[in-house]
Amino acid sequence: MEVVPLTDADEVGRIAADVVETVVRRRADAVLGLATGSTPLPTYRELVRRHRASVGPSYARVRCFNLDEYVGLPAGHPQSYRATIARELTDDLGIAPDRVHGPDPAPDGLADAGARYEAALESAGGVDVQLLGIGSDGHLAFNEPGSSLGSLTRIKTLTEQTRRDNARFFGSLDDVPRHVLTQGLGTILRARHLLLIATGAGKAEALAAAVEGPVSASCPASVLQHHPHVTVLVDEAAAGRLERRDHYREVYDAKPAWQGL
Ligand code: PGA
Repeated sequence: MEVVPLTDADEVGRIAADVVETVVRRRADAVLGLATGSTPLPTYRELVRRHRASVGPSYARVRCFNLDEYVGLPAGHPQSYRATIARELTDDLGIAPDRVHGPDPAPDGLADAGARYEAALESAGGVDVQLLGIGSDGHLAFNEPGSSLGSLTRIKTLTEQTRRDNARFFGSLDDVPRHVLTQGLGTILRARHLLLIATGAGKAEALAAAVEGPVSASCPASVLQHHPHVTVLVDEAAAGRLERRDHYREVYDAKPAWQGL
């Protein structure tokens, strides 16, 4: 796991955009794993800015897989993750809607929605780079504390804490769905490169537990310690509880230029 201590959310967004662009330049039909929430927004804005300025790669052949989706929202709801990703990123990058996939929350197919999503990921050849945020309770995608470290895509019930965290996107707490479909921790571990981004003091404790604590279902993001290629981009506030912060800085400053992230 490589922890990269950066200054602020904008710098995190620039470096994360560099990582995504590098993958797409290397492989024009790359498979991108996308996350929702507030944390990836500076990254998405930067990717769109560069694309509009014609300095980014072409995304015409890229395919995208979302991490998760609410269950119970009307189709096309603006807070559905399918609509959010289209609005915040993929439409502006010129990625056709049929190249952007998410777990299918249609009520009559919920029983096998997870298995169908796993099959779709597999037939796409897996995810080249997966963007990840971290919840204030250590969740990864919608894998809340207690989630199996080997879990696959399935329906889950949100904790009260996560529903409160996400109420800002809805009219009120009552409007936040209780159920979601989410890639499992085992699903996420299959991606070839995991890019975790964390910004703000509200993430400091969860991030320290994930990176420096024991691997435990009590902190789902700690499962990242099992993956061979994880990059953690963190701003000063979110790095506030990391005991080895100075070491991460030394390593990053001394990183050979050829190595990349
Ligand atoms: P946030 O959410 O980026 O909105 O903080 C992250 C998450 O819940 O995984």
